[in-house]
Amino acid sequence: MDQHGSYLREMGLIRWRFGSQPTDRAGLPSKPETRSRDGGPKTNSANLAALAREADGCKRCELHRTRGKVVFGLGSPGVRWMFVGEAPGAEEDKQGLPFVGRAGALLGGMLGSLCLSRDDVYIANVLKCRPPNNRDPFGQEVRKCSPFLHRQIDLVQPEVVVAMGRFAAQVLLDSDQSLGQLRGRPHNFGENPVPVVVTYHPAYLLRSPGAKSKTWEDLLLARSLLT
Ligand code: URA
Repeated sequence: MDQHGSYLREMGLIRWRFGSQPTDRAGLPSKPETRSRDGGPKTNSANLAALAREADGCKRCELHRTRGKVVFGLGSPGVRWMFVGEAPGAEEDKQGLPFVGRAGALLGGMLGSLCLSRDDVYIANVLKCRPPNNRDPFGQEVRKCSPFLHRQIDLVQPEVVVAMGRFAAQVLLDSDQSLGQLRGRPHNFGENPVPVVVTYHPAYLLRSPGAKSKTWEDLLLARSLLT
């Protein structure tokens, strides 16, 4: 079995077959990378780098006292997909990179099932610093930190955002509905609306592999929203 097939097998899913039309790596008709929205990829890269530097020195909440490294996010403006999780865990806090632990390996499998690699997506979290012992983020921390995520979405300009887990979904959609209520239909984020699809968090999938088939449905929904 090739690499794509083995990713799907890893997710416990049937193999997805693409059509014969020329496609890009997401299996969609090829199209130029540049967006027509304002701020070209170069400007947005520079602004994103400046934002990352700002986050690096951030002391807006108490998490700066206990963090190892700030985990700003990974990827480049202009990618079509953005994946958003909750907050860095222990491994992410050590490396300063999002989703590099066990949940990250599963996220890699999810990307592989879509014929995507980490280079094709932007990965971020709601919180940029690890809460001690991976406790749930406090409302105050979210309020102080979420402007970073909002600005990241503005600068990356993805065609779709996948909110992984209840926490990312509720924060991005400013909702208190459950993950089950938010799944299964597209939502919008922001004034220049970006579609958001809600799915399970990879850490939950590690504990509950039975939810992988629903995750696959969510990813296909997200994929259908690419322009
Ligand atoms: N869980 C998250 O929500 N984010 C990470 O970066 C790692 C684990």
